[in-house]
Amino acid sequence: MGKERKVRAYTNIALIKYWGKKDETLFLPMNSSLSLTLDSFYTETAVRFDGSLERDEFWLNDVQQEEKAVQKISRVLDLFRETAGITEPAYVTSTNFVPTAAGLASSASGLAALAGAANLASGLHLDKRTLSTYARRGSGSATRSIYGGFVEWQMGTNNDDSYAVKIDDADWDIGMVTVIVNSKEKAVSSRAGMKNTVLTSPFYPSWLESTAKDLTEIKSAIREQDFQKLGEITESNGMKMHATVLGATPPFSYWEPDSIVAMHMVRELRQQGIPCYFTMDAGPNVKVLCRLSDSQKIQSYLTTYFSPEKVIISGPGKDIEDITNE
Ligand code: DP6
Repeated sequence: MGKERKVRAYTNIALIKYWGKKDETLFLPMNSSLSLTLDSFYTETAVRFDGSLERDEFWLNDVQQEEKAVQKISRVLDLFRETAGITEPAYVTSTNFVPTAAGLASSASGLAALAGAANLASGLHLDKRTLSTYARRGSGSATRSIYGGFVEWQMGTNNDDSYAVKIDDADWDIGMVTVIVNSKEKAVSSRAGMKNTVLTSPFYPSWLESTAKDLTEIKSAIREQDFQKLGEITESNGMKMHATVLGATPPFSYWEPDSIVAMHMVRELRQQGIPCYFTMDAGPNVKVLCRLSDSQKIQSYLTTYFSPEKVIISGPGKDIEDITNE
């Protein structure tokens, strides 16, 4: 039986969105993306390769998972087994640390923590860049959760050159306020949503063109620590992603009425002179990019409408960490 190893990985929110795959098996994206890793949402996962088991076993938040969830993690574990020449099944225990009201399961931190723990338990000890290519095969956004701060997922052209790169530690007064509009499972998964959009949305080609430009500009905003430019590009890129979704056949939308309320409140905060900008992913929750030093003011304003436990402040999260001995 191998030694159990445990890793913590933080979730991330894309400021330049990944939306569409050119290879569904390898998870090669249609465009490069860029995110901020958050410290309030994370997953801790322990992996042990164990010859006494008949098959992979997966416990999430103390509940044994069924076949479908096990298959998802087995695909990632297989990559490590193949490279390391391991034939033993794995025993995997995982805990999602999300503020209770959020109820958000994060595939980004989950798959990154799994890859991180399997990397150590298999004895491979891959460097972070290579590790990000393994996490990618579990879920695209997990590629970026290997690192903290601002992270770019460079789309690359093949399995080995589609990886994450840290751009900046984001230690210059950066934060994010998450507004939980609805914590139920989404009706259209990001996987299905992006696929349908690539196949049917007439706006998709212009999304690719404009997102490449947004990426170049946001990297210069980060370099110059120009918060306004960072926020404006973030807000605009997120809205463009959602526009491609509205243009798909059949058209769909991830927004709920309260998502729009939150967006309006962010605009009002800006009118009051507080720089903050929203973005949304494949679900109704709204994420507000802000100065960490303004986050409490923003939280107070948002909780005039949303209940306090639904408005969560995060600072920048860290790289994945080996917490085996904690
Ligand atoms: C809108 O990484 O969840 O959050 O690769 O199919 O697992 P799969 O999709 P996933 O998609 C994330 C989409 C997004 C934008 C982003 O995080 O970049």
